[in-house]
Amino acid sequence: MTGGRKGASHDMNLNVYIETYGCQMNVYDSELVKSILVQRGHHLVDRFDGADVVLINTCAIRERAHQKIYGRLQQLKRVRALRQSELTVGILGCMAQNLKQDLVDGRDEVDFVAGPDAYRHLPELIDASRGVAVADPAALEKAALKLSTTETYTGVDPVRSGGINAWIAVIRGCDNMCTFCVVPYTRGRERSRDPEGVVEEVRALVRDGYKQVTLLGQNVNSYRFGEVRFADLMRRVADVPGIERVRFISPHPKDFPVELIRAIAEHPKLCKHIHLPLQAGNDRVLELMRRTYTNAEFRALVDEMRGTIANLSLTTDVIVGFPTETAAEFDETVRLVDDVRFDAAFTFKYSERKGTYAQRKLRDDVSAAEKTRRIVELVELQKRITHEINRSLIGSTHDVLIEEHDEKRPGYVVGKTDHFKHTIFPADGAEIGDTVRVAIEGAHGATLYACALSAHAHAARRAVG
Ligand code: SAH
Ligand code: SF4
Ligand code: F3S
Repeated sequence: MTGGRKGASHDMNLNVYIETYGCQMNVYDSELVKSILVQRGHHLVDRFDGADVVLINTCAIRERAHQKIYGRLQQLKRVRALRQSELTVGILGCMAQNLKQDLVDGRDEVDFVAGPDAYRHLPELIDASRGVAVADPAALEKAALKLSTTETYTGVDPVRSGGINAWIAVIRGCDNMCTFCVVPYTRGRERSRDPEGVVEEVRALVRDGYKQVTLLGQNVNSYRFGEVRFADLMRRVADVPGIERVRFISPHPKDFPVELIRAIAEHPKLCKHIHLPLQAGNDRVLELMRRTYTNAEFRALVDEMRGTIANLSLTTDVIVGFPTETAAEFDETVRLVDDVRFDAAFTFKYSERKGTYAQRKLRDDVSAAEKTRRIVELVELQKRITHEINRSLIGSTHDVLIEEHDEKRPGYVVGKTDHFKHTIFPADGAEIGDTVRVAIEGAHGATLYACALSAHAHAARRAVG
């Protein structure tokens, strides 16, 4: 603890700087944290210098994520020693929840930790770290790492950073217990948000000029609130007048009923892109991972999606070198990736996580060199497939929602197609937030190059009304 002014009353007007690592859920959570702190009278600053409080919202998904944070803490230690000021440092998020007090013990540079369900306690935790008397410090320390079965941050209005997209967490936690994954331990049990509140938030976002919302959850399609299921929620959100595009991440293949596939196919505002994490292609490994589907079931699901949704793009996640995975078993993953032809794949080397079933019961026995060999093979294969698919799109037309100006090419804008492909084209009068019909003219890696077919029409419509 930094100590200092024992007995002082609640600290106000502190300058708070938040740094965010990890997934979109953490980005969203940092927006909630900002809201909670602003409500309490603090100020947000976008630079480390001059901050009274530095909060680091962390990720625990792989060892690399931890290493990144340890590196940052080393830097903070030096800054703190130099400034000798009352700089308060709090570690939030998944790594805090995972390592708990171990993260603070023996580290002078960390004042407190707070897990993803404890952010309403942040003002008090900051107070306590700065020497303000709190009613029950021991209870507060415990509350800071307590996972909740009900917390959905209802009533906390995220402080968003602008742009065209807004994140909305509709379900928190994960009940799946995939054996490699730390998330169930860092984010607790699943709980869904009231759909009325979600729809109300989307209406407000439209009023604020947002064009796209992305519904978030660790396992977003297991959303359920009373009788309202994920497909119903998606339709309700997409029906909000003025919203241009609705997306969702990350779904699990086990929760893809036909109603959800149909909703994506039918509703023009639902983005024709599904991120469908595969993880592995061999049935024994899938079972050991506790993924609850087989190679054949995954392929059948993909066929059903592609048969129902026109112009669907599919992306995935794959883990190589899960404990006991043989080279022959890995080859089944390669074959599946080759057959399914995803638009893109995120590939990861297995990283042992504290507390998971795999860490407790299995040996991380695939060598580092072999993991590298496997990941290189998959990355190369996927690169070729992505390139082939994107080149095959040349000549087709798509609606692109413009997200920003291209920093490297003046006069060009960057956006995503209706099936979520990164596209660059000359602005030709169109602006950020416009949806423009384009013809694809080129493809390089994961990027499409296009020319606008309707930019003038858009500019003209804006001039009229
Ligand atoms: N809830 C989402 C995202 C989980 S994290 C989902 O189920 O898809 C994103 C990806 O990280 C996972 O899909 C998985 O491929 C990868 N991942 C998770 N735990 C990992 C671990 N221990 N080692 C390597 N990759 C991991
Ligand atoms: Fe982790 Fe599996 Fe839950 Fe995804 S579905 S967050 S991989 S436990
Ligand atoms: Fe990382 Fe937690 Fe997200 S572990 S990936 S920040 S849910």
